[in-house]
Amino acid sequence: MQRNVSIQQLKDHVGQEVTLRGWVFNSRSSGKLAFLIVRDGTGLCQCVVEKKDETAAAFAAADKLGQESSVEVTGTVRADERSLGGYELSIRAISVLQAVDGFPITPKPHGVEFLFKHRHLHFRSRRQWHILRVRHTLIDEIRGYFNRNGFTLIDTPIFAPSAGEGAQTLFSVDYFGEPVFLAQTGQLYVEAACMAFSKVYCFGPTFRAEKSKTRRHLTEFWMVEPEIAYADLNDVIALAEDFICSIVQRVLRDHRADLEFLGRDIASLERVQKPFYRMTHKQAAEILHGPRARELLERDLAAKTARLSEIETAIKEREEKLRGQGIKEWQREKMNAELHDLREELDEVRIDVQNIPHHMKLAAEFDPNGDLGGSDETIISRLHDRPVFVTHYPRDCKAFYMKRNADDSTRVNNVDLLAHDGYGEIIGGSQREENLDALLERMREESLKESDYEWYLDLRRFGTVPHGGFGLGVERTLAWLCGLKHIRETIPFPRMMGKFYP
Ligand code: 4AD
Ligand code: MG
Repeated sequence: MQRNVSIQQLKDHVGQEVTLRGWVFNSRSSGKLAFLIVRDGTGLCQCVVEKKDETAAAFAAADKLGQESSVEVTGTVRADERSLGGYELSIRAISVLQAVDGFPITPKPHGVEFLFKHRHLHFRSRRQWHILRVRHTLIDEIRGYFNRNGFTLIDTPIFAPSAGEGAQTLFSVDYFGEPVFLAQTGQLYVEAACMAFSKVYCFGPTFRAEKSKTRRHLTEFWMVEPEIAYADLNDVIALAEDFICSIVQRVLRDHRADLEFLGRDIASLERVQKPFYRMTHKQAAEILHGPRARELLERDLAAKTARLSEIETAIKEREEKLRGQGIKEWQREKMNAELHDLREELDEVRIDVQNIPHHMKLAAEFDPNGDLGGSDETIISRLHDRPVFVTHYPRDCKAFYMKRNADDSTRVNNVDLLAHDGYGEIIGGSQREENLDALLERMREESLKESDYEWYLDLRRFGTVPHGGFGLGVERTLAWLCGLKHIRETIPFPRMMGKFYP
């Protein structure tokens, strides 16, 4: 009788005959032996078919199976430390559901454009598989953390009647002839809910019509937003710190192998312990104006410029060799693959070399009354070996709902958490303005229509209390945890400016 097991379960079946159901990841044959790497969604397993009378049919099938053919393979499990995943299957029989020829994403390098146009197939590849597994656990831990700590989940609407974060980034939708907006945040609604349940959170997709094509911006992303009643800024910060530690520990516990595959500096994640660094926006401005920021970027520029000429030399060498005589086919393929990677890196480093002087200028001329830009956040977070809380931003560059600071009315009691290793903001939060008159004044400054926010103002009329919370973006957090350069790899089907297929 056929016993179906998953690759993850092979360890419990050593010496037994089992059937794996999956897809051909890779195959090669050496005349007497055929090797299939099969993947089944839980892992990879090398399957070996010997060419002999009893396995003649299986050998013939294995010999010509293309990448991503769907197969059921039956054979005996052997423990083998040298083998991928530690187990191997000696195949007796293969049943082919579909033999595939010409899967578009081969082990050869492809450009980013091509891969993301084929995203529906792309996430069968190894790197994407590792990343999305970590995403699963990150989301599980987000929910787990709040559920364990007495927070009630409150789902907030996606059709929103008014702006939550700032009118420039609203997507408008026709709602039976009336304009409504895709939610930029669930915050205003969790503020209402925390007055009913004390500690709450919402977790869902969030939309921003930012015209930014950066490695940190999606137009659709997932955000978790806890909100607590009877809380000030320090309570919000303490919650954020504890929450981040619990996420990082869980991912380190369950995904060390995935992070290693992705090349993440694990020691750096292990340093994520309380207390995080804490500074005011004013102190951040001083750092940006100071020598440490300038020296950091000068060192960068020197290193990148040196790398640029290294790459150019390496490209020239390979191009010359390829023009020469007597190169074997495998050498040609290897060099072409290397050239592809080198050219990609060349483009990246060129852009860096162009941008660094601009970032230096932005930092040196940083406006102490302005918001931190992406490159400013990168500088601050690279100058620290753990995450950094930056508090008390200028009121004018922040949302209307933030609590005005009691000692300095030009500032608000807000906080951004900058992830270290150069990742920048992953959390934005604040204490909320609970005073009706102060809130109305801010809304007038922002030209917000009072009538749109009547229900929200009611919260300040009926039992108002100090309260606050924050939002954490799943994708930026995952990019940081996995050490990814670009946010597009952190979500199964990314939505970015100019990109919504597939
Ligand atoms: O700082 P933001 O805009 O804060 C809010 O929306 C508040 N209402 C949250 C709250 O206090 N309840 O966004 C919070 C986080 C950011 O720190 C970032 O991680 C993520 O959401 N985020 C984005 N992620 C990807 N692409 C974008 N365009 C993002 N904009 C914000
Ligand atoms: Mg923010």
